[in-house]
Amino acid sequence: MATALIILGAGMGTRMNSDMPKVLHEIAGAPMLVHAMKSGAALAPERTVVVAGHGAAVVEKAAKAYDPDITIAIQSEQLGTAHAVGQAREALDGFAGDALVLYGDTPFIRSETLAAMSAARLTHDIVVLGFEAAHPGRYGRLIMKDDQLDRIVEFKDATDDERSVTLCNSGVIAANNATLFDLISAVGNDNAAGEYYLTDIIGIARARGLSATVVSCDESETLGINSRAELSRAEALFQAQARAAAQADGVTLTAPETVFFAHDTVVGRDTVIEPNVVFGPGVTVESGATIRAFSHLEGCHVSRGAVVGPYARLRPGAELAEHVKVGNFVEIKNAQIAEGAKVNHLSYIGDATIGARSNIGAGTITCNYDGVFKHKTTIGDDVFIGSNTMLVAPVTVGDAAMTGSGSVVTKDVPAGDLAVARAKQENKAGFAVRLFEKLRARKAKGS
Ligand code: UD1
Ligand code: CA
Repeated sequence: MATALIILGAGMGTRMNSDMPKVLHEIAGAPMLVHAMKSGAALAPERTVVVAGHGAAVVEKAAKAYDPDITIAIQSEQLGTAHAVGQAREALDGFAGDALVLYGDTPFIRSETLAAMSAARLTHDIVVLGFEAAHPGRYGRLIMKDDQLDRIVEFKDATDDERSVTLCNSGVIAANNATLFDLISAVGNDNAAGEYYLTDIIGIARARGLSATVVSCDESETLGINSRAELSRAEALFQAQARAAAQADGVTLTAPETVFFAHDTVVGRDTVIEPNVVFGPGVTVESGATIRAFSHLEGCHVSRGAVVGPYARLRPGAELAEHVKVGNFVEIKNAQIAEGAKVNHLSYIGDATIGARSNIGAGTITCNYDGVFKHKTTIGDDVFIGSNTMLVAPVTVGDAAMTGSGSVVTKDVPAGDLAVARAKQENKAGFAVRLFEKLRARKAKGS
């Protein structure tokens, strides 16, 4: 069935104590809103409406960065969850299919769970995602009658009997789009909070003879984030799952609890990841690579058999071909390193290409920035760059060329040539011996 997503994210998230809208706080390098969008993507939605209020402009930017086709609906006053859904009415006018309401601050709903809700929609007009809460606290309670969901009662409005119910409302609701907005129109705000509760649509629907049911999921899936402490717990939960998934996929993690993945990290089978490795967004690592301890990778690709680190930093646009070696204290940005090339020690390679089998000596720097513009360094195949070479870009070093250690290379080096660009050495015969004698004599006299 065609589905539209409505993702609520207008709340200000007071308990985050932040200038940034709550739904933009990140888990595993992506805003929690994007996690909710990724969950919803499991239903291949034809439309997605994000309801924003506080910081709507930045919320829109983040949502569109992930999916340019989403629509933003503005809720300028936060009058409750039904009112929030109501703001999506215009965007979804005439949409012939289901609408699914998700919260932007609830990032862990699994695709299987949403699929189960879709399946339940075949037999019921409204499907609510519920969970058995260990500590039901202030959650809305799902009140069943026979085999139907009869109504949802908010904690504030519940009797003691109703509060003793442990089946709780996650907030995720699915219904036919037209039906949903019909029901929303009928919701009032005569309750303890004076808010328009989305949860009221169940009672209204049942009174109209519509059917409603509950699909249950694990409590951990419905984890909502309201504070920095909850954000860090969500991060820990994400990481625990990502580590377990990597291991199940055949990745060796020497000390899993010290490796941090991003929401989109991809690592191939038989890759080894040593302790204290951090992945930022946009990293793919092929099979059989080794990421050694204390390395930081972001927006890069590491091919089969490559070895990275220890203490390496791969920044966006770093692409390592098969069997490349990048060693300690090396930083690589926006650079393609061809098969078998080595950058083993203390180097910065930025805005560059390095050909196959080339060796970049310790302390080499591509001087890519003139203070205004960035320039490119091109190094051919089988090149030997001597230690401590400064490659002042734009510059090209041809195939099988060499540079002498300590050279400042400002002109292109033709293939096969040796470039030496440093002061000539001069040796002064016996000078050291005479100088030492003089100095020691002075020390002995105590002056
Ligand atoms: C809601 C449910 C409750 C459920 C709980 C699960 C209602 C009335 N109650 O309560 O049954 O157990 O979630 O976490 O629906 N939002 C807006 N605009 C608004 C109000 C809220 O966009 O005017 C957004 C918030 O940003 C948030 C979500 O809706 O993402 C839920 O709102 P929140 O105020 O946290 O609802 P709860 O009181 O927790
Ligand atoms: Ca909440």
